[in-house]
Amino acid sequence: MTRAFSGIQPTGDVHLGNYLGAVRRWVDDQHDVDSIFCVVDLHALTIPKDPEVLRSKTLQLAQLLVACGLEPETCTLFVQSHVPEHSGLAWLMECTASFGELSRMVQFKDKSDRNDFVSAGLFTYPALQAADILLYDTDVVPVGDDQRQHIELARDVATRFNNRCGSDVLVVPEHVIPPVGARIMDLQNPGDKMSKSLDSPQGTVLVLDDPKTIEKKIKRAVTDTDNEVRFDVADKPGVSNLLSILGAATGRDPEALADDYEMYGPLKADTAEAVVELLRPVQQRFADLVDDPATTTQILSTGAAKAREIASATLDRAQRAVGLLSPS
Ligand code: TRP
Repeated sequence: MTRAFSGIQPTGDVHLGNYLGAVRRWVDDQHDVDSIFCVVDLHALTIPKDPEVLRSKTLQLAQLLVACGLEPETCTLFVQSHVPEHSGLAWLMECTASFGELSRMVQFKDKSDRNDFVSAGLFTYPALQAADILLYDTDVVPVGDDQRQHIELARDVATRFNNRCGSDVLVVPEHVIPPVGARIMDLQNPGDKMSKSLDSPQGTVLVLDDPKTIEKKIKRAVTDTDNEVRFDVADKPGVSNLLSILGAATGRDPEALADDYEMYGPLKADTAEAVVELLRPVQQRFADLVDDPATTTQILSTGAAKAREIASATLDRAQRAVGLLSPS
């Protein structure tokens, strides 16, 4: 089976765009692909965080992924810091990546411009990301185009490591841009993707928003003044976005759905209801997990043990290959 590795940052909240665009596909694919999902709390440390916030966001993201339908028996779901091999291999990757390569990372330049305090970890972030991927003999990394440079670096570093050690210690991964389930736009700025970083709380439906909030946000979604329901992304971005959301939530084609509506009011009402119904079981499962912390602990410790079994063998192989003395 193909092995896929994805790292997800425990920052921000999971929104409807993430759910319909990516998470739902992970849930569908978990039976066909050997899927490893890692909540990358070590990466989150590269920019200073409030400790309590980081801890609760990490737990919440893990619970939410399970609530969305990732099955701990089917895929591997764990928290990065629970598998110390990530830090272990990251050092070897830092010693394999060059200063010049890391200096050319666009995300580093971006983030270091936006933050007063630039940690050394922010600079070496891609070496840790390479370690994440390479620890699991990963075949594919299904992440967005914004990660292209980081995955390229992981490939280059793996190749260089293998060349230096004279053997195929690390598997060189492929980057695959996953097909997007549905492209969900911001409700207030339908020209922009729904995104937690846009800072548009009214335009973003969170997976954990209560039904009243969801209804309010969708009813206030920006449309246009010509009062015609038609799927036309260029001309009618707001209305088309509502049709896309309704379509994704109900499994129907957005263009065909347009024929069912003459006015915006009923379209908004049905979209709100469909989203509330779509998220209801997710929210219920999430609430159950929050009520039962022992289950989450169990899920995450099983996930970390599964991950560790693979990761420790890879780290050992890499340490021996590079010339570190075996402890036993
Ligand atoms: N850098 C990724 C992001 O910002 C998160 C990440 C960390 C990741 N480690 C990874 C993604 C390994 C894919 C594989 O989204």
